[in-house]
Amino acid sequence: MKVRAFEGDIRSSDTRVSAVMVFEGDTKTVSRLGRGVASRVRRILETLDFKGKEGQIERITLPGQRFEVVYLVGLGDRKKADPDTFRRSAGLLVKRLKKDKVERAVLVSPRVENPLVSQALAEGLILGSYSFDRYRSRKEESFEVKEVEVLGGVEEAVRKGTILAEAQNYVRDLVNEPGNVINPVTLAEEAQRLAGELGLECRIYDEKEIQEMGMLALWSVGKGSATPPRFIHLTYKPGGRPGDRIAVVGKGLTFDSGGLNIKPDSYMRTMKMDKSGACAVLGIMRVVATLKPNVEVHGIIGAAENMPSGSAYRPDDIIRAKNGKYIEIDNTDAEGRVTLADALSYACELKPSRIIDLATLTGACMVALGEYTAGLFTNDPEFGEEIKKIARRTGERVWELPMDDEQLRKKIKKGPADVVNSGGRYGGAITAAMFLEEFVEDGIKWVHLDIAGPAWAREDYGYHHKGGTGFGVRTCAEYILSLDGGR
Ligand code: BES
Ligand code: MN
Ligand code: ZN
Repeated sequence: MKVRAFEGDIRSSDTRVSAVMVFEGDTKTVSRLGRGVASRVRRILETLDFKGKEGQIERITLPGQRFEVVYLVGLGDRKKADPDTFRRSAGLLVKRLKKDKVERAVLVSPRVENPLVSQALAEGLILGSYSFDRYRSRKEESFEVKEVEVLGGVEEAVRKGTILAEAQNYVRDLVNEPGNVINPVTLAEEAQRLAGELGLECRIYDEKEIQEMGMLALWSVGKGSATPPRFIHLTYKPGGRPGDRIAVVGKGLTFDSGGLNIKPDSYMRTMKMDKSGACAVLGIMRVVATLKPNVEVHGIIGAAENMPSGSAYRPDDIIRAKNGKYIEIDNTDAEGRVTLADALSYACELKPSRIIDLATLTGACMVALGEYTAGLFTNDPEFGEEIKKIARRTGERVWELPMDDEQLRKKIKKGPADVVNSGGRYGGAITAAMFLEEFVEDGIKWVHLDIAGPAWAREDYGYHHKGGTGFGVRTCAEYILSLDGGR
């Protein structure tokens, strides 16, 4: 779908369908439809139970008029509105347009002159129009909305929102691909293809090179699978002297069966999504390569499939990670942190000023925060605040959890090795983050996002669709862009 900023008079638009966003109890924006249409809409409105509450959509038909169909879209309380209010409402609108088989519409919205609103509208429309239908043989059932014109929209902001949302949809596509299609080898091939398309440097390490480089933690997790692990390193270098160097690291379990500590059936379902962090990294690299900020960005992925077999790693195994620390395996289902041990060690060797990792790391994080909010952990409070501030704008919910409980930390410091890969049930998201911290060099600012909940939607909501959400792409990409003035 295309979103276009539309300059000038609404009467010069040739679409026959319009949509108007309105705050609760305030139908002022209706007048922007032009005098004739507006007065008719107002008259009909008096007979309807439409209050403009968020989530409310009303369809009005005006036979013979300039606009044959007008959608009224509620934004809720104007005092509570933020960019995500517009993003969510645009998402709901486009879902409705699709259902009603509307190909083209012009959209009228309050505050559209604010670039953040224009951008959010574009994002909501493109995210809301997403569908994953590659595997539906009967294509005639799917309908696509072709174009929405945003009246008075800020062109640059619409363009930025389009790039961000299309990258997020790309990530959703990858996450939704099942484990028989995307495995460590094909994920690496996709990274290579993307790098070629975007002009990024791309280095793939196979299972032999992974061992030679001392990444025995990643290798161990991958060795139970018929498909070997891969290590992926993408690099974006700006034209001039880079202002900063950042690494983004993604957990890339293309399927997590639990390994020898095998998951029960209902828990194993959806574990194709355990590569969401890795896919988000690819999406972030796509944005960066397109908008070209003056920041050097490294995208790093340890890709593996966690399977039970005669060659699988076991509970009790003791493994040496790339940074020399020894890991004792308590539970083979706590595999993400083991792969990230090597990925983070590798990232630190690049000497970035900051690292962000994205990982569907723990069920415990979902128990703590619910499935719509990511856990944020950091070794640098200021860096954490910067990410939180950006996340409020992108509507990607994050909430910080503490890392200063030294009594709790002892749970991963037990046993014969330097660290053990599971700290037990209580504080499971925190002990997982503390485990990761063992592999981040002192002096490097680091934020860990546990996206186990929000990476996957169990039902449709707002601009999301059942399945992969592409969570984290916009927040991380916007953060990187903000280092170069927003772009
Ligand atoms: N990939 C899972 C975490 C997960 C659970 C992601 C549900 C998304 C939805 C991770 O590898 C895992 O299995 N974690 C275990 C850790 C435990 C064995 C210490 C968990 O959370 O139960
Ligand atoms: Mn697991
Ligand atoms: Zn996992």
